[in-house]
Amino acid sequence: MRLSQNVADIGREAKKIIVAIDGPAASGKSTTARRVAGKLGYVYIDTGAMYRSVTLRALESGMMDELRLTPEKVRFLLEGIAVTFEAGRVFLDGRDVTSAIRENRVSRHVSFISSLKPVRDHLKALQQEIGSGKGVVMDGRDIGTIVFPDAELKIFLVADVSERAKRRHRELLPGNREGGLLPSIDELKREIEQRDRDDAVRAHAPLKKHPDAVEIDTSGLTIEEQVECVYRLAMEKIAGTAECGAGA
Ligand code: DC
Repeated sequence: MRLSQNVADIGREAKKIIVAIDGPAASGKSTTARRVAGKLGYVYIDTGAMYRSVTLRALESGMMDELRLTPEKVRFLLEGIAVTFEAGRVFLDGRDVTSAIRENRVSRHVSFISSLKPVRDHLKALQQEIGSGKGVVMDGRDIGTIVFPDAELKIFLVADVSERAKRRHRELLPGNREGGLLPSIDELKREIEQRDRDDAVRAHAPLKKHPDAVEIDTSGLTIEEQVECVYRLAMEKIAGTAECGAGA
């Protein structure tokens, strides 16, 4: 996989920080991270979209069963893949896959793909390259623990699973391309619980809260409240960084 954008160069001029936002599926990470990045003038990177794009490629190339049998084949899968982010859209080899990667067939297989060490190593290196200039808000499962353990601000978002299933349902509605096969809220709840378990127990980079991360329960919060909370914490860190000249 390669980067087609000079995102690593963005944000090098001013003193900027890295905001790492982790948490379980549908806890509000992406929306919060995107809006906070917008307010800060930072680059937003949705690392879940990177894992989803690799998963879509595996499904479309008919490699999923092969990968289950021989995980080494994943290197073939990664070769030459380009995932790029432009104007809030995700592109896989130049094709807009923003809706396709949210389809449930991708959600069902993404935990398996993201449990493969070569996939994680590959994406981690890309994520670190993107964030090397700072001025980035990155969301995922292992950003604060593995990708950027020195991130100035680490956030861990959690939310009640029923609330998360409802959010995912709303998210799937406008982009439902699976022809009437939109899963029910109960089905989504079971799948989210399963994915939480898979993501938390996997051998490589499991979902875990960094001891320094600020935990925010978004169950009773509006999007605006979540964004305001994280933005305020980021501004405090930026002010601290600017005054002290070191990570606050
Ligand atoms: O955030 P999301 O639901 O779009 O993420 C999809 C999957 O990708 C999630 O089940 C686990 C995986 N993932 C990961 O393992 N590490 C990340 N940094 C981001 C996502």
